[in-house]
Parts: sequence; structure tokens; C-alpha cells
Amino acid sequence: MRLKNKTVIITGGASGIGRALAERFAEEGAKVALADLAIEKAETVAKKIGGLAIACDVTKEIDIQKAVQWTEAKFGPLNIFCSNAGVSFGESNLVTSASNAKWQTSWEVHVMAHVYAARAALPGMIERGGGYFLQTVSAAGLLNQIGDAAYSTTKHASLGFAEALSITHGDDGIKVSVLCPQYVATPMLGYGDDVCLNRPAGVISAREVADSVVEGIAEERFLILPHPVVEQYRRNKTKNYERWLGGMRKLRRGIIAKIGSTRLEDMHKVI
Ligand SMILES: NC(=O)c1ccc[n+]([C@@H]2O[C@H](COP(=O)([O-])OP(=O)(O)OC[C@H]3O[C@@H](n4cnc5c(N)ncnc54)[C@H](O)[C@@H]3O)[C@@H](O)[C@H]2O)c1
Repeated sequence: MRLKNKTVIITGGASGIGRALAERFAEEGAKVALADLAIEKAETVAKKIGGLAIACDVTKEIDIQKAVQWTEAKFGPLNIFCSNAGVSFGESNLVTSASNAKWQTSWEVHVMAHVYAARAALPGMIERGGGYFLQTVSAAGLLNQIGDAAYSTTKHASLGFAEALSITHGDDGIKVSVLCPQYVATPMLGYGDDVCLNRPAGVISAREVADSVVEGIAEERFLILPHPVVEQYRRNKTKNYERWLGGMRKLRRGIIAKIGSTRLEDMHKVI
């Protein structure tokens, strides 16, 4: 799908990857609505790109319904829904260390928000003969994220829902892509909102992610991998699951030996 003149909603569009997607899509000629909890930041981005900022908590189905209604009222029928908002809490010593509230929020933001988006947008898209869903998952949804079981588990579930969406509605003209980057220099990893030039190896910019997405959407490809090496890791995992698990345990031991924890903001610099 080409982005020119398309109506797009991006959740989590106020920051990081969502913001870069908004800016890049606008450059391609899309009409972009940014739906985010952080309304002031969303308004700043919207102003810059001639978009629409919508205050939205993606864990509330009514907020997503309203985001679709308001976007369509301003820009016309919705073509692309990007479920991109995400949260990352980490855990201390045990795989179960994160509180139930953090597990629940991870589930609601990474999975139920995608269900609400599909429920709100699918009927209209099907009636018009097609539409597009971009789900920001993560390489953690294909592999795993050391130090964050709630993140890894719910990102796997997010991938499962995206597959179901494609299988069930591909014949209705519905296209689906899952965006699965490894580390990206955004506030989630402790970086500022501006492009960071001093990044550790393997950490790419949100702009580079957005470039991959524009290419992936143009090709209507399900799997978008801004870090191409992830394809190799994915193959290793399916080829020899036991060996892959052993490799991940070894990686975790190495990180703890080096920096004493698996805190995301530190860990991504030594991998
Ligand atoms: N940064 C990375 O290394 C990385 C890697 C892989 C995947 N991801 C995924 O990319 C997506 C974007 O993350 P980012 O790195 O840009 O992080 P970020 O923290 O910069 O942006 C996340 C945005 O989501 C919004 N948000 C969070 N909860 C929300 C809610 N309930 N309702 C509405 N908006 C909400 C935040 O306000 C923020 O604007 C997430 O899904 C994340 O899991 C990030």
C-alpha cells in the first residue's frame, strides 16, 4: 500500500517510534492522527506535520472507538491503524517479580488495545474492500526479552493476534504487518526524543525504523525487521529450540557478570 493521501492512526504517536512513523508517513503524503496518553507531546508532533492529536488511553476501548470516529470525521475513511503504544517495566530477580498490575497493563496495552483497534476499524475497512493494520510488536515477540517476562509474554500474544487477524481477514482485503525491531534509541530505552548520534552498536534510530516500515508497507509484507539479523535469530530458534534456549541463558549470565543486572536501560549497551 502506498501512503499518499491515506488516513492513518498511530497510537503512541507522541514519542519514539510512533513519532518517527508519524513524521515519515506525513512526508509520504498521509493524513496522520496521533492517539496518545501524552496529549501535549502529541499536539507538538501534530502541529509539525499538520496532523491531529487525540488524547487516548489505548487500554480503554471507548477511547479507541472515539479516536477512529474523530480521525474519520477530520480526514475521511481510515486506511491504516498502527497499534504502536507500548510499555516496558522490567523485573528484578525472579521471572515473576513484576506486580500483577504491571502484567495486567502490559496485557492491556500490547494485546487488548490491538483487539479494540481491530474491532473499531475492521467493519468499515471490510465494507470499503480493504485496510491495513500495523502492529508494533518487537523482536521480543519472536525471540524473548531478557529481564522482562511480562513484556516478552504479551508481545508473543500480540504477534499471535496479528497472525489471527491476517488469517481471518486476509480474504476481506485486510493487510497486516508486524514491526519487530530489536533496540531502538527512544525514551523507552532512556534516550531523548531527538535523534541520538552516540548509540551503542546495534541500537538504531526511530527514523531508521520508520524507513523500514514505509518499505514493508509498500511491499505489504507481514514481517518487518529493521534489524535484519533478527531473521537469523528466528531461524536459529526454530531450527534448534534447546540450543537457542541455552544460548539465551548464556547471554543472560554474561550480562549479569558484566553489569550486575538485566535493567533494560543498561543491558542494551552491553549486548
Ligand atoms: N525502543 C525499543 O528498543 C523498542 C524495540 C522493540 C519494540 N518497541 C516497541 O515500540 C513501541 C513504541 O515504543 P518506543 O520505543 O517508541 O517507546 P516510547 O516510550 O518512546 O513511546 C511509547 C508511547 O506510547 C504511549 N503510551 C503508553 N501507554 C499508553 C496508553 N495506555 N495509551 C496511549 N498511549 C500510551 C506513551 O505515552 C509514548 O508516547 C512499543 O510498542 C514498544 O514495545 C520498542
